[in-house]
Amino acid sequence: MQDLKDKTAFVTGAASGIGRGIAVRLAAAGANVVAADVDAAGLDETALAVREVGRNVDVELLDVRDEEAFAALATKFNPDVLCLNAGVFRGGLMWESPVADWEWVMSVNVFGIINGLRAFVPGMIERGRPGHIEITASMAGLVATGMSGIYTASKFAALAMAESLARDLQSVGAPIGVSVLCPSAVNTGIGSSQRSREEAVADDAGANAIEEILTDFCAKGLDPSEVGQMVVEAIQHDQFLIPTRDTFAEFIRVRSEALMRRELPPFQMFD
Ligand SMILES: NC(=O)c1ccc[n+]([C@@H]2O[C@H](COP(=O)([O-])OP(=O)(O)OC[C@H]3O[C@@H](n4cnc5c(N)ncnc54)[C@H](O)[C@@H]3O)[C@@H](O)[C@H]2O)c1
Repeated sequence: MQDLKDKTAFVTGAASGIGRGIAVRLAAAGANVVAADVDAAGLDETALAVREVGRNVDVELLDVRDEEAFAALATKFNPDVLCLNAGVFRGGLMWESPVADWEWVMSVNVFGIINGLRAFVPGMIERGRPGHIEITASMAGLVATGMSGIYTASKFAALAMAESLARDLQSVGAPIGVSVLCPSAVNTGIGSSQRSREEAVADDAGANAIEEILTDFCAKGLDPSEVGQMVVEAIQHDQFLIPTRDTFAEFIRVRSEALMRRELPPFQMFD
């Protein structure tokens, strides 16, 4: 999709971080934006930033876990670009993590994508216009670290869904490209994901420690608007994988070579 001028882009997780970066940079490239999130105050800030670059913006309070709410929005908007970006993090040892943690992360990070695809892709195919779908995975979708098994499983799933989606769209001849964003550290609120969680969260010292480490790690990361620009350029050039640091290839190589030797890949902490 070379030309984003006057196209409509629907972005989830648009109230903060990378989602806001994507929304504003898409707008700067000429698109009108539908910004969706559970955070009303953050959505207002995103709307302001989109208007500042001179494009139209709709804000929608949407919990991506809500299949019906997603489907209702698909009767209201006809996006050319769909960015399924909303995501949350919870750390901890896999066997100690309560089912509630598994359900929360999987329902946002995996079912949030499934709900978005089921709501919007049939209409995008039917309209027959060139389009693009961006899915936000992570370097944690390419390399498994430690103390983050729930998140890692959700991001391996996100990457697999993007790859399968691209094949499925090709198989039906739809003129819709797919990109999967696999960021290294980006300076966002992901380390404080619990802020959007309604139910009381069981206190887990290990999980809290990992979330603090993640917060420090992200503070040293890229600016989300830089990452938003990488997404815009990938959409314009129909680029499938969007890494945010050049080191990504070495991480993949080390992991793949170990697997080819039938070994457990060595621990690699991405940057
Ligand atoms: N920041 C990083 O270093 C990094 C690295 C790799 C991947 N990612 C991924 O980037 C994506 C965006 O996260 P971010 O880093 O910008 O963090 P962020 O916390 O700043 O933004 C996430 C947004 O998702 C929203 N959200 C959470 N639950 C939601 C729900 N149920 N429905 C709708 N919206 C919901 C939040 O309100 C927030 O606005 C996530 O998928 C995350 O996993 C981030």
